[in-house]
Amino acid sequence: PLRRSRRGAPDKQDQLDEFRVDPRGRLTTDHGIPVDDTDNSVKVGERGPTLMEDFHFREKVTHFDHERIPERVVHARGSGAYGHFRVHESLAEFTKAEFLCDPSLETPVFVRFSTVAGSRGSADTVRDVRGFATRFYTRQGNFDLVGNNIPVFFIQDGIKFPDFVHAVKPEPHNEIPQASSAHDTLWDFVQLQPETMHMMMWMMSDRALPRSFRMMQGFGVHTFRLVNDAGRSAFVKFHWKPRLGVHSLVWDEVQKIAGRDPDFNRRDLWETIEAGHFPEYELCLQIVPEADEHNFDFDLLDPTKIIPEEMVPARPVGRLVLDRNPDNFFAETEQVAFHLGNAVPGIDFTDDPLLQARLFSYLDTQLLRLGGPNFTQLPVNQPINEVRNHHRDGPHQMAVHQGRAAYHPNSLSGGCPALADGDAFVHYPEWVQGNKIRKRSESFADHYSQATLFWNSMTDWEKEHIVEAFRFELGNVTHWHVREGVVRNLNNVDHELAVRVAEGIGVEPPSRPVTTNHGRSSPALSQAGQPGSV
Ligand code: HEM
Repeated sequence: PLRRSRRGAPDKQDQLDEFRVDPRGRLTTDHGIPVDDTDNSVKVGERGPTLMEDFHFREKVTHFDHERIPERVVHARGSGAYGHFRVHESLAEFTKAEFLCDPSLETPVFVRFSTVAGSRGSADTVRDVRGFATRFYTRQGNFDLVGNNIPVFFIQDGIKFPDFVHAVKPEPHNEIPQASSAHDTLWDFVQLQPETMHMMMWMMSDRALPRSFRMMQGFGVHTFRLVNDAGRSAFVKFHWKPRLGVHSLVWDEVQKIAGRDPDFNRRDLWETIEAGHFPEYELCLQIVPEADEHNFDFDLLDPTKIIPEEMVPARPVGRLVLDRNPDNFFAETEQVAFHLGNAVPGIDFTDDPLLQARLFSYLDTQLLRLGGPNFTQLPVNQPINEVRNHHRDGPHQMAVHQGRAAYHPNSLSGGCPALADGDAFVHYPEWVQGNKIRKRSESFADHYSQATLFWNSMTDWEKEHIVEAFRFELGNVTHWHVREGVVRNLNNVDHELAVRVAEGIGVEPPSRPVTTNHGRSSPALSQAGQPGSV
């Protein structure tokens, strides 16, 4: 439809191809005008001023001036790869998403791995969360699973995201430090927001220093919904498990590598794909029947909590293979626009307040980053199925839409009706009722149990690395009350941990807490906290 000429046939592109003249592939302007010289601007005499009239000079420099688009406000540094996904067996019992029901279907994917805090040119091997965003180009439209390599998040409600990111990014007055951690503002936020503690335990572990994107887990983090053909829903957590296992660097290594090869992870991904050693990941699902929603001593809607796999096993359901590097970093890896709102029939949302905020934020930021609403027409963002709607015009519109009527309903030139049939995305009709309030559910109040669970699951040497990381990070914090505040929070996670950290940073070791803030810790949770269990 994009290429059909106004009068119908023949196709404009074929017509133009017929007249393509210059087999030497000579230099032209963007409008096809042959250029005589691209090394000298048009001047008045040999030493005179350059003329406005030099349209080639102006076009060349203008294009260059506009080569950069704003980098992503977070996850600016990324590396992408194409691949494919196939489900092992039909999951029709749980979902009507076609790509999860038909084992004969190979679904194309694009994945972008990223760090969160650094700028686009920053080093790969820093202590940070890694993004693991996957787009499935399904026959029912794009499904984006926009996850991280850590299964929980720093905050519980997306309204706090701007605060958190302002704290984690370089400080506003001097743009220091570039690294995501080791600074006053991040740790000030952490000491004032105990909900960050579970995530900070993961952040101070070697999980935040992945050796390779090929050896990294991915998590959808939130609890989502699956919905089957009969309209029955179950809760689900998405996991990616790498075929090569999970491997990390250690702190001394990452510092040296950041100096010697800031592209360490990017290069590794590129070179192994070029060499034909394709990274593979298993998609695993933790599925919880809707009736079991309240059978846990944490809230399934709280994104600072995992569901321990001892409680709900992660069932392997399909395989992802990354087998092709992008052709052009900017066109594909930079311009890809992931969005949680890209969901296909059979996959739906929950009321996790972090997820709800994300559903607003991604499209909003992409309108700015990619210059208007037509970024969906960029090749990497186009779905593989046909797009039909009445959206028109706007900057960078690539389509030459036909017909007089771009509204619905119309009686003049056909249209594309919305049909609430089995193929449509119909939002899950969850029953909700309540007062309009700004309030966090009491079921979100336990900020420490799972941080303790994580600590207890570590081996001795892993604990040593965590203690060293806290000492390094907090040892760089200049405000004493911030160091003390974090140690106070750590004391609610584990007394021994707090004492060991305090002793390394010159803070008075805290006394053993009389009661912990855990409150809701269940026998099931304490059993789950065995080494290697998370
Ligand atoms: C970008 C993950 C929370 C706003 C990203 C990316 C990932 C990601 C992987 C990079 C996508 C890419 O490679 O292009 C997550 C996860 C979260 C989370 C797992 C929590 C579970 C949030 C929240 C907000 C937010 C709460 C805002 C309320 C953004 C924005 C971008 C981004 C604005 C840049 C998008 C773009 O420019 O295309 N996030 N994020 N994120 N995230 Fe999040």
